[in-house]
Amino acid sequence: MLVFERKNQLSDWARQEKSTGRTIGFVPTMGALHRGHLSLVSRAGMDNDLVICSIFVNPIQFNNPQDLKKYPRTPERDLRLLREAGCTAVFCPSGTEMYPGPVTTTYDFGQLDKVMEGRFREGHFNGVAIVVNELLDVVGPDRAYFGQKDFQQLQIVKALARKEHPGTEIIGCPTVSEDDGLALSSRNARLSEQARREAPCIYRALQMARDSYPHTPIGEIKKQLARYIETSPQLKLEYFDIVWADSLMPVERPDPSRQVVGCIAAYAGKVRLIDNLAFNS
Ligand code: PAJ
Repeated sequence: MLVFERKNQLSDWARQEKSTGRTIGFVPTMGALHRGHLSLVSRAGMDNDLVICSIFVNPIQFNNPQDLKKYPRTPERDLRLLREAGCTAVFCPSGTEMYPGPVTTTYDFGQLDKVMEGRFREGHFNGVAIVVNELLDVVGPDRAYFGQKDFQQLQIVKALARKEHPGTEIIGCPTVSEDDGLALSSRNARLSEQARREAPCIYRALQMARDSYPHTPIGEIKKQLARYIETSPQLKLEYFDIVWADSLMPVERPDPSRQVVGCIAAYAGKVRLIDNLAFNS
């Protein structure tokens, strides 16, 4: 497995590989890899001749400095897992390699980046869009793989790619979870024992909400979910929204012809977790 630290070296190599007709699948990550990340690598390997993965804890997408500081970092283990997963090349840039100068781009995604995570994590999606745009420029992949676990991020990246990288297809991949329903996340490593025990309630709450939809009024489903989350002392609900999958706007009246997703963010102890569930699949 090749390891690149420089953008231009990776670009030159990727361009050369593409010129011989090979297709490239790209998986951007922030490291501390788990089975969720590896499922993207494996899907990329099925669809493409080569797989490139990036590991970069992107400082400009963290709205909370403590979250950035405490973000788990396991670089050696990550490289081993990627090698075992059959990844062709890894990109591990330093902060200054990624951002040699001030970063000033501002994206406008309409409502997509204003709702849900956008309301609670100011600047987060702009930081994600900047780094993903830069990575897609450097790698120039045929396809790039993102998890549905970060559903809003996936929709924003699709909007970004439609405009800036029409030659790259964005592929959304299913969420990988623990047996008890907790969605895998690098942040799970920071859960206390009790918070870890209670965290699967988040997924159960989503399932209950899905089962109540569409026969129960949306306002009532939201209240029921909030009450259920409150029964776990370690959990604190930040938001729960039932939205149209394409626009991320709140569903007011059910429409069986449109996809609906329930999206949740909650603290489990000090750790902020998100998850979502399709309501009509
Ligand atoms: P990170 O949280 O490391 O996630 C990298 C990719 O793995 C994302 O596409 C994410 O949705 C996916 N992923 C995370 N947990 C998953 C799970 N349980 N099942 C399936 N896929 C999962 O998301 C980011 O990094 C960053 O915002 C990034 C896109 C790399 C830009 O910095």
